[in-house]
Amino acid sequence: MRDAAAFHREAVAQLRVNVPGRAIVAASGGIDSTAAAVLSQEALGDRCRALFVDTGLLRLHEVDRVRALFEASHLHVEVVPASERFLDALAGVTEPEEKRRRVGEAFIRVFESEASRFGADTLIQGTIAPDWIESGGALRDTIKTHHNVGGLPKDLKLRIVEPLRDLYKDEVRTLSAHLGIPSPDRQPFPGPGLAVRVNGPVTAENLAVARTANAVVEEEVEKRIADGSIARPWQYFAVLLPVRTVGVQGDNRVHGRAVSVRIVESSDAMTATAMGVPMTLLRTIAERITRELSGQVTRVLYDVTDKPPATIEWE
Ligand code: XMP
Repeated sequence: MRDAAAFHREAVAQLRVNVPGRAIVAASGGIDSTAAAVLSQEALGDRCRALFVDTGLLRLHEVDRVRALFEASHLHVEVVPASERFLDALAGVTEPEEKRRRVGEAFIRVFESEASRFGADTLIQGTIAPDWIESGGALRDTIKTHHNVGGLPKDLKLRIVEPLRDLYKDEVRTLSAHLGIPSPDRQPFPGPGLAVRVNGPVTAENLAVARTANAVVEEEVEKRIADGSIARPWQYFAVLLPVRTVGVQGDNRVHGRAVSVRIVESSDAMTATAMGVPMTLLRTIAERITRELSGQVTRVLYDVTDKPPATIEWE
């Protein structure tokens, strides 16, 4: 991207050329799709409808947070409730790539039905370069199928337009500042959401545990960012593991679950370093997770693996 103003002008002009009819734009609350939605609404006006799909795979208070972000960005976005559809699509699935395919497929089916209600033939997405590079677009082996790329079914009934597909994350940040999108200081959150932070089967129960554990990690890390005791990490979250581990509660043995905490530094998500955080922070997180999920989680681990050889998310 040469400069944000030039990119903005060209992207709006391109969208007008590429979308002669009506379009829907999928906004996830992340910086990429918010920027794509702002460009689309500017380019297409009433011919474009922005949607936010409530997948049921979201974090605590996520719907409220994204509503506030959209309002501040002067975006009109409709929230589509779809959690049952996503839970059904994921029932019994444990293989990470299969989860991504199922989530991608469920998203597309929601978009198709919403597009047909609106009379649109085009879906605008906020895909950026690392999404398709890591989905096998440029590398020989697929690392992960990001939901908005590899999950697209072959019988897709919509044209896809991706105004940001050549940008990297730092360029999207520059663009979104230029577009007046408030910087919410939010960390990236994967499209398949908590489905890839429940290692193993995705059930409503497992999602609830992962949601609470993620909220604890976010709150505690954000406190330390606010008081200046740590720098803002690239990402900080929890993953529910499919193992059972013995704990003790009062005089009783509890056969509970284990949660892994991941806090990483990165500049573009292509590589990442496990962050050396104070032990007091990790102890507080472990104490809160085992207390707030008492009887369910008996052990909390800290993931010290860099990317590579690991990836940022576990799945
Ligand atoms: P990994 O785990 O591959 O993640 O190191 C790199 C970055 O991408 C995010 N991520 C995703 N984002 N759809 C997305 O939009 C996905 O399917 C997806 N998977 C991972 C991840 O959180 C990290 O920031």
